[in-house]
Amino acid sequence: MALKKMIFNINGADRICVVDYEKDTLADFLRRLGYTSVKLGCKAGICGACSVIVDGKVVRACTRKISKVPEYAQIQTLEGLGTAKDLHPLQMAWLNYGGVQCGFCTPGFIMSAKALLDENPSPTREEVRAWFTKNHNLCRCTGYKPLVDATMAAAEVMRGERTFESLDMTALEPGQSMLGGRYPKPTGLAKVLGVADYGDDIQLKMPPETLHLAMVMPPVSHAIIKGIDISEAEKMPGVYKVVTAKDIKGTNCTAFPLGHPRCQATGMDHPILCDKKVFMRGDVLAVVAARTEEEAHEAAKYVKLDLEELPAYMSYLEAAQPGAMRIHEEAENIFCWTPLFKGEDVRDVMDEAPHVVEGSFHTSREPHLPIEPDVVQAYWDADGCLAVQCKSQFPHGTQMQIAAGIGLPTEKVRIIQNPTGASFGYSMSATNAAIAAACAIATDHPVTLTMSYKEFMLFTGKRSPAYCNARMSADENGLISGLEFDIAFDHGAYSEESMGPMTRVLTFLGFPYKIPNIRALSRMGYSNHNFGTAYRGFGSPQGYTISETLVDMLAEDCGMDPFEFRYKNIAREGDLNNNSYSFKLYPMEEMMDILRPYYEEACKRRDAETTPEKARGVGVICGGYVSSGNADRAQVALELNEDGTFTTYNGWSDQGQGADLGALITTHEALRPLNVPPENIRLVMDDTLICPMTGPAAGSRSYYMAGKAVKNAADQLIDAMRKEDGTYRTYQEMVDEGIPTKYIGTATNTGDKSGIDPNTGHGDGAKEYMYLTGIGEVEVDTATGKTKVLGITLVADVGNLGSEILVEGQAYGGISHTIGYALSEEYEDVDKQLNLKACGIPTCEEVPDNMKVIYHITPREDGPYGASGCSECFQNAGHMVVLNGIHDAVGVRIMDLPAKPEKVKAAMEAKARGEDTTPAPYYLGPDMYDELEEIEKNPLVGKIEFKG
Ligand code: FES
Ligand code: FES
Repeated sequence: MALKKMIFNINGADRICVVDYEKDTLADFLRRLGYTSVKLGCKAGICGACSVIVDGKVVRACTRKISKVPEYAQIQTLEGLGTAKDLHPLQMAWLNYGGVQCGFCTPGFIMSAKALLDENPSPTREEVRAWFTKNHNLCRCTGYKPLVDATMAAAEVMRGERTFESLDMTALEPGQSMLGGRYPKPTGLAKVLGVADYGDDIQLKMPPETLHLAMVMPPVSHAIIKGIDISEAEKMPGVYKVVTAKDIKGTNCTAFPLGHPRCQATGMDHPILCDKKVFMRGDVLAVVAARTEEEAHEAAKYVKLDLEELPAYMSYLEAAQPGAMRIHEEAENIFCWTPLFKGEDVRDVMDEAPHVVEGSFHTSREPHLPIEPDVVQAYWDADGCLAVQCKSQFPHGTQMQIAAGIGLPTEKVRIIQNPTGASFGYSMSATNAAIAAACAIATDHPVTLTMSYKEFMLFTGKRSPAYCNARMSADENGLISGLEFDIAFDHGAYSEESMGPMTRVLTFLGFPYKIPNIRALSRMGYSNHNFGTAYRGFGSPQGYTISETLVDMLAEDCGMDPFEFRYKNIAREGDLNNNSYSFKLYPMEEMMDILRPYYEEACKRRDAETTPEKARGVGVICGGYVSSGNADRAQVALELNEDGTFTTYNGWSDQGQGADLGALITTHEALRPLNVPPENIRLVMDDTLICPMTGPAAGSRSYYMAGKAVKNAADQLIDAMRKEDGTYRTYQEMVDEGIPTKYIGTATNTGDKSGIDPNTGHGDGAKEYMYLTGIGEVEVDTATGKTKVLGITLVADVGNLGSEILVEGQAYGGISHTIGYALSEEYEDVDKQLNLKACGIPTCEEVPDNMKVIYHITPREDGPYGASGCSECFQNAGHMVVLNGIHDAVGVRIMDLPAKPEKVKAAMEAKARGEDTTPAPYYLGPDMYDELEEIEKNPLVGKIEFKG
C-alpha cells in the first residue's frame, strides 16, 4: 500500500483525498468516495459502464490507474450532472426516450454522451453511434437506438431548438389512460441520477461485520473430488471461515423438479457446493469468507483441491457417444426425449415428394451477457428470516429452489430482488443465492458475493446449443407436405430448466406454417459444459434456425420467391399447428400483407446497390412464441392507504423490461373508476416476505398474468369501496365500517396441465401466442465474409400495447440479441471466452439504426386490456432474417451458428470451387425412427401429469 494525499476537482468542488497510489483505479477511488454511479461491469475496459469525464475526455475508470490521473484533474460523474428537481437534458431524454431499461449502463452512456455534446453540440446520428462504439459503451437491453434518440433529443434542447419540457412524457390529462402510451419507467429517475444501488453498490454500504465471499472453482471440467484442504486458506489474513459442503445442513442441492414422465433426471442434480464430483468448470467447491473482498480472493488461492480428472465431454455429441461414461449416476447422458407424430409417416410422404430439402444444424451456446455480473447478499434479518438479495427473476421460485438445499423451511427464506442489471433468463437459476445463503448460515454473519465477469461466465447457465438433422418437403403446388427432425439439446452439466426447450421446439420448429405430416424426436442431454438455463425465446431460436432455413431452401427448390412461398404456407383459419392444436389466432396473412411493400422496396434496394465487393441480401422470416402457459397462476395485492393513496404488492420481477411500469400502468387502469393519478400509486415489489407470488418473469407471461391479477384485486377493492349511491368510501370510512382495505387479486389459467402429450406430441402448450414476420437487409463483404446488418423491419402481433415505450424497448433489445446470435455470440472456450467482447456482444454500430416495428393488433380476449405478453415475440426467429439474408447475398447457407466472417468466407470459397458443403448428419443417439417405434409400442400409460 502506498497512500498519498491528492486533490481532485470532483463535480465542481476541490476535494482532498487519500488514495492508494499503487493499487487504486479511478473507479475504486470514486466508488470508495460514494460515487457509485461509476458502475463496475467488466472491470476490463470493455463495457464502458464506469465511464466518467476527466478534463473533458471520456475515461473508463476501471482501467485508469489513479496514479495516471493528474492532481487537480476535473472529474465529472453522473452524480454531478443534475438533480431530481433539475435534471440535465440528457437525463430527462434518457428517462423519456426508453434509454433506461435495466439502467446499469445508463451512467456510463450519459457521461459519454455529455462529453460528446461538449465537444460537438450538433452530432449526426452516425457520429453518435461512432462515438459510443469508439468509447466502448455497451448496452445489452435497448438495442442502442433509444440511446441515440435520447442523445439527439437532448442535443436539440441544449442548442435551444426545443424546450426541455417537450422531452417529458409524463403529462396526463385528468382521467387519461396510460395504456399504450410512452410514460417512463418509475424506477428510471434513480437510474438517470446515478443513485440506484445495484448489488455491488449495496455491498459497499453493508454493515462493517459483513464478510466478503470468494468462490473456489476447479481448473478442470470433470473430476472426482478426492479432497479439499482448507487448512492453509483458513490461516490467511482476514479469513473468518472457509465454507465447504460439510457446512451445509440441508440437501446441498437446488431443487428444480422436472416431472416429465420420461425424464431420468430429477432436476435435483445441481450441488450448492460440490463435494463428490466436478461436473463443470464453473462449479464451486469451497467459499472463503473474509473481512475484505481482496483478502477472500487471496485466501481462495490457498484452498488445495485433490481431483482425479475424468474425460470431459464438452458437447452433447461427445457425451452421447456409445460407451461414454455417465456424467450423473442417476441418469443416462441422454436423459429425456419426447416425440412428435402428426399425420402420415413422413418417410412415405418424402419418398413421393417432388421437393425435399435437408440439413444438419448446430446452434451456439448463447451467453446472456448482461453488463452487470452477479452479486448476492445474505443475512439474518430482523424478522427472523434468512434474507437473500439477488437478481432473481422469480423471487418465490428462488425461495423454493434453495430452502431445502440450505436446510431451512421455505418460509424462513426471504428473497429480495436487488435493482438488477438485467438477466434475460439466467437468473431463473438459484445456485448463487443458495451459496450466499449457506455461507451466511455457516458463518452466522451477513455475507456479500460479487462475481468477477470471468467467474460469472463460468458459473452461470447459458442458452442450450442444439444439434439437429432435418428434412422438409413440398408438393408440386409448393405446399409444405412433410417435416422430419431429430433434435438434441446440449443442456450441459445440470438438468434444471431442461424440459422447456425440449418440448417448446416441438411447437416452434415449423411455426406458424401448415405442415400436415411430421415425425420428430426431441432429446435432452448432459455434457460437462455450463448448464443450460432460460433465455428469451427459450427453445425457439434453435427450432427456427432449422425451419426458417428449410423453408427458404424449399422455396428455392420450388423456384418460388421466399416471401411468396411463406405467404402460401402460413397457417390460416382452421389449420392446426405441429401439435395438432389450434394456432388460436390466424393473423399471419394480414401481417405479411403489411410487410410485403417493405419487402419489395428492400429487394429493389438490394438490386440497385449490390456490388462485387459488397453483396446485398434480403432475408425474410415468420415466427412467434408463447405468452403464458395454459396452466398458470399469479397473485398480487392492492391496498388502500390511510392517506388515500394505493399500494400494489407484487413479485413481478423487473429485470429492466419494465415490471415497474407494467405494475403502475395496470394498477392505474384498474383504478380508473377512482381517478387515481399515477403518483398516488406506490409500488412494493419483489420481496417474498411481503409480496404475493406473482410467478416468474419468463415465458412472456408477466404482463399477461400479473396484469389480470391486478385487475382482479382492483375490482375487489373498488367493490368494497363503492357505496350504494355510487360514490366511494374513504380509508377512514372503510376502517369505521370494518371493511378490509387490502385485497389479493388472482389470475388463473386453467388449461390442461399436461400440456404436450409425451406419447404423441399433441396438445396445447400455450395460453396465447405472439406472432411475427419480418425482413432483414444485410451486406456481405465478399473478400472477408463479414456481414453487416443494414436494417430490420418487423411486423408483430402482441395484442393491444400496454406501453408503447416498453414494447418498443423489448423489440429493439430483442433485435440486438438476434443479431448477436446470428453473427457473433457464443460461449464455447471456457478458458478464453470469459468476457463480453470474447463472447461477441454487438456494439452500437453493429446494431442498425434502421429498425422498424409495425404492430398488427389483435386484441386478446383473455389478456389484460387486450394485451398478450411481448418480450419473446422479438427474440425467436429474428436471427434468421440475417442468415437468410446472407444466403440471398452470396448464396451460402450457414447451418452452424454463429455466422462469423471466416465461416461465411470459407463457405463462399467452397461454393466457388463447386464443393458440396452440406454438413454430414450428426450422431444424436439411437436411431430416431427406432425410438419413435418404441414409444408407439410402449406408450406411457395412466394419467400423465407434469409436476414441475
Ligand atoms: Fe469499466 Fe467495463 S469498462 S467496468
Ligand atoms: Fe443498457 Fe440494461 S439498459 S445494459
